[in-house]
Amino acid sequence: MTSIHVLNGPNLNLLGRREPGIYGTATLADIERDLGARAEALGIALTFRQTNLEGELVGFVQEAGLAGAGVLINAAAYTHTSVALRDAISGSGALAVEVHLSNVHAREAFRHVSLIAPVCAGVICGFGPHSYRLGLDALAHLMAARTPNSASKD
Ligand code: DQA
Repeated sequence: MTSIHVLNGPNLNLLGRREPGIYGTATLADIERDLGARAEALGIALTFRQTNLEGELVGFVQEAGLAGAGVLINAAAYTHTSVALRDAISGSGALAVEVHLSNVHAREAFRHVSLIAPVCAGVICGFGPHSYRLGLDALAHLMAARTPNSASKD
């Protein structure tokens, strides 16, 4: 069965109460519930993880990549700062899709740069919780394309 790890970085545990004008009112648990339902329909196994620590996020990426699982990642602020995270994606060979709730390109200049985008298959941002759903569909499609005999139900 195709496996995807949904990894969330710092402060995303605060979704629902964190700057709702930017990030909306859905909690991380709401997002994970929605993704779980979609994954079930696609026949994909999901693993959910969130951490506020850069090194821990690096470890989560390595674990997923080395296991051959896909990575759906909202690295939050580490997107813009973490060479270590970028190296974890490329070093572990993880097939990753980067997602963001907000349209980072419509915000402060420091959010316009993603250090991980060049080592991700693609980037989806600006659609609120729906960014995750779009990212899951995209990643499932890519994984089905590279795995012989796996049916993509899209
Ligand atoms: C974010 C955008 C980042 O710039 C920010 O640091 C976050 C959330 C998003 O999902 O919109 O924490 O990744």
